[in-house]
Amino acid sequence: MNESQKIEEFWDNAFKGVAPMKLTHEDVKMGEPFENWIGEYGPSAQKIVDFGCGEGSLLLDAAFICPTSICLGLDASRNAIAFAEGSAKKSGLKNISFKVGRIEALRSLPSESVGLFICSNFLDVIPLENVLEYVFEIERLLEKDGHLILKVNFLIDEGIRKRIGGVINEKGEIRIGGVFRSNNRPDEAWIKAFKGLSFMKRADFRRLPKGPYDRLFLFRK
Ligand SMILES: C[S@@+](CC[C@H](N)C(=O)[O-])C[C@H]1O[C@@H](n2cnc3c(N)ncnc32)[C@H](O)[C@@H]1O
Repeated sequence: MNESQKIEEFWDNAFKGVAPMKLTHEDVKMGEPFENWIGEYGPSAQKIVDFGCGEGSLLLDAAFICPTSICLGLDASRNAIAFAEGSAKKSGLKNISFKVGRIEALRSLPSESVGLFICSNFLDVIPLENVLEYVFEIERLLEKDGHLILKVNFLIDEGIRKRIGGVINEKGEIRIGGVFRSNNRPDEAWIKAFKGLSFMKRADFRRLPKGPYDRLFLFRK
């Protein structure tokens, strides 16, 4: 099994055994500033894509906020997609679909066909050497004036690394129990990675009330 397959297996197991459920907008509200940014840049986007969408909460939130946009969630995990797709159906959402997909699914979409791209905690959980191929696809897929909302985890410092028991390599990448878990890049590295987009702003984002502060970045093409 290569490293990408190991990562996919890890996440697929993490989403195992969750049965699809009927969800209201209240259930999937992600809070600020995510909702504010979606509210500002989502409704004008005919198509919203979330790559590495996991169980789909962020895109479900976006689908409620932007009822006239077509929302597509892609993820390699069959378990995550079964939950997301089943829950969207049970919740009566007509403007959203979820598919099992990897980079080939992005490559099959036409250039400049996406008004808003969401990528949350995907680019920072894959090896650095693979990040650029996704950056290329995101930049290609965005329409002119389209937006990217990028979310990555909090930066893992030496204290946190020791607590979580990870092993760090010379590139700063972290593996836990032999599974790749974070490429752990500082803000500037993410901003510089998207050379074809203009960086607009960065914000802290706390998904859970007492959880860590993840990092949100907003870009425009
Ligand atoms: C940390 S989770 C993030 C899930 C969700 N976006 C969120 O913010 O909660 C990383 C996601 O990336 C997906 N993933 C990992 N490797 C992938 C690949 N090569 N192609 C597509 N998705 C992948 C996993 O299945 C998992 O759902």
